[in-house]
Amino acid sequence: MVYWNSNVARHPDILRAVPAGCSSALDVGCGDGLLVRKLASAVPSATGIDKSPEMVAQARSFSDDTFVEGDFLSADLGTYDFICSVATIHHLDFELTLARMRDLLRPGGVLVVVGLARDASVRDWATTIAAAPIVRTVKVLRRSRGPEGMPTMKPQMSYREVRTAAQRLLPGARYRRHLLRRYSLTWQKPS
Ligand SMILES: C[S@@+](CC[C@H](N)C(=O)[O-])C[C@H]1O[C@@H](n2cnc3c(N)ncnc32)[C@H](O)[C@@H]1O
Repeated sequence: MVYWNSNVARHPDILRAVPAGCSSALDVGCGDGLLVRKLASAVPSATGIDKSPEMVAQARSFSDDTFVEGDFLSADLGTYDFICSVATIHHLDFELTLARMRDLLRPGGVLVVVGLARDASVRDWATTIAAAPIVRTVKVLRRSRGPEGMPTMKPQMSYREVRTAAQRLLPGARYRRHLLRRYSLTWQKPS
């Protein structure tokens, strides 16, 4: 199934971050597997993991790629040259999840986390309010939609809390806040 939404909007940047010579990639919280299917055309081995049996069943119905049904924090996984995750980390313990992603990454590998955070400061609110008309217009024009039955959750951490914790766990990580209410963290593990 092909569709567009604020998560899919980040896919081109995620795919551009795949390191040269990457042999294996993991998408954490893969949902219906759309990003795994895109990764599979660029990487010899692409795997998705998701806790939801319904989402994994949808993902498996669309392609023969590898989908693991389970909790990322306890599942038996390998190591990867590229790990990504979109709109998922706020469903889990942020620090444990980022630490596990870091540990499963091979030296020289790249991690990209796209997440949601809570507006907490005047600056956060001002950014959100200023962007709101653009966000609404883009979503209507692009007919924003997603898969049926996708588990969702409100983010508890603020943008500042995310940035501070990420800088501690992933020194040198690049943090960006995006127009469509997402932030991204990009980090390369030292070789
Ligand atoms: C909002 S959806 C995003 C899905 C997909 N990444 C996307 O961009 O459309 C969050 C996903 O995280 C999954 N999830 C939540 N907790 C998880 C965990 N502990 N381990 C693996 N997946 C988890 C949910 O089942 C859900 O499919």
